[in-house]
Amino acid sequence: MRITVIGCGYLGATHAASMAELGHEVLGVETDPAKRAALAAGTVPFYEPGLEELLSRHVASGRLRFTDSAAEAAAFGDLHFLCVGTPQSSSGLGADVSQVDAAIESLAPHLTRPSLVVGKSTVPVGTAARLATRLADLSPVGGEAELAWNPEFLREGFAIKDTLEPDRLVFGVASDAAEKRLRDFYAPMIKAGSPVVVTDFATAELVKVSANAFLATKISFINAVSEICEVTGADVVDLADAIGHDARIGRRFLNAGIGFGGGCLPKDIRAFLHRAGELGVDDAMSFLREIDDINQRRREYVVTLTRSMLGGSLIDRRIGVWGAAFKPDSDDVRDSPALWIAGQLQLRGAQVSVYDPRAGESAARVFPTLTYADSALEAATGADLILHLTEWPEFRELPIASVSDVTTGRMLLDGRNVLDLGAWRDAGWDARGLGRR
Ligand code: UDX
Repeated sequence: MRITVIGCGYLGATHAASMAELGHEVLGVETDPAKRAALAAGTVPFYEPGLEELLSRHVASGRLRFTDSAAEAAAFGDLHFLCVGTPQSSSGLGADVSQVDAAIESLAPHLTRPSLVVGKSTVPVGTAARLATRLADLSPVGGEAELAWNPEFLREGFAIKDTLEPDRLVFGVASDAAEKRLRDFYAPMIKAGSPVVVTDFATAELVKVSANAFLATKISFINAVSEICEVTGADVVDLADAIGHDARIGRRFLNAGIGFGGGCLPKDIRAFLHRAGELGVDDAMSFLREIDDINQRRREYVVTLTRSMLGGSLIDRRIGVWGAAFKPDSDDVRDSPALWIAGQLQLRGAQVSVYDPRAGESAARVFPTLTYADSALEAATGADLILHLTEWPEFRELPIASVSDVTTGRMLLDGRNVLDLGAWRDAGWDARGLGRR
């Protein structure tokens, strides 16, 4: 099929390249000239494993092109995927949906034949119904320009796999015809076993935010339990292993540490909370405020614990920080707890040297006043204390002896609870985790 992908950020670029891989002809619409030029040259302006290879292959084959023209998009495709961003609003907790509105406003007047516009962006419940009316009002073919909502659940670091082999496909539709078109479009994935849930607009919108709220709740739950472990001498990793064996609970997303960050979980729970308030059911989602608070407390706690390990003052102490990205296999530092902690320690008087295998450049753009090292050992050189804040495999693989050779102190705080504390302690280090024995 000939499709367009409107908005070529993380979601859109991945969707465009993956759909070209499925055999469709894809036109990406991107209004940012620098981003568009990069994508058209087959390069990806962020780090996602495998994406640049996939994208450049399909740019070269001619199956994937880019434009900034809504008129060209309307003429080219019969299916238009909305993949623009919905960041947290600058004036509150709600989502800023102006890019979604702008996409509909610019595309709809050019839709002169029956078309299906498919929203993938994460939006507050009620947005799709409003956009469906707007689309029909603005299009010359009226109601023949139809809307569907098909939320995306991809994780950074696994974006291609999550797009091509999703755990489920959710189709929020208002007609059988829209369902049929989506089933035809995704036929190879459905044939390969991805389950399909067909539902209405509101449910489809809510599925996405509920999934993210549940994941955030799971992480904050284990982090809250970790606070109890801290004061009782219990071990949160053993505890998570034990409760995770219960199939009703499951072990995934029960890793206690410095908490969640990134471009989705934090803003999505806030937008959900905000939307519940607008709908007059604040109480239903008020627990998400607590989930957010527990999460923020982790970062504060690491700063406090670091100060206490250093004897009560951060002034002029040297700290080596391993990790800046919000999670491994990503160069994304949006709302990254690792970068927040590094920044706070420096603002409170410490000398902080940060190393991240991929996120150094993006971190330096957000926090230019930190020192950035070119390797884990360089960040550790002369340090009184090391903080492990993003669990890249290379940090686990470092020989402890080589670290001991370059540091001044022998203190380690593992903010991700994945290092072998026993091995560090055997090597003479005061090594601690969060909520760990
Ligand atoms: C998330 C959702 O997983 C995905 O389905 C949605 O489409 C977008 O938001 P992503 O932001 O890529 O994906 O990251 P995710 O893997 O969910 O991790 C989010 C944060 O939680 C990271 O900061 C991670 O370090 C943290 N985390 C995750 C924990 O602290 N503990 C865990 O057990 C799992």
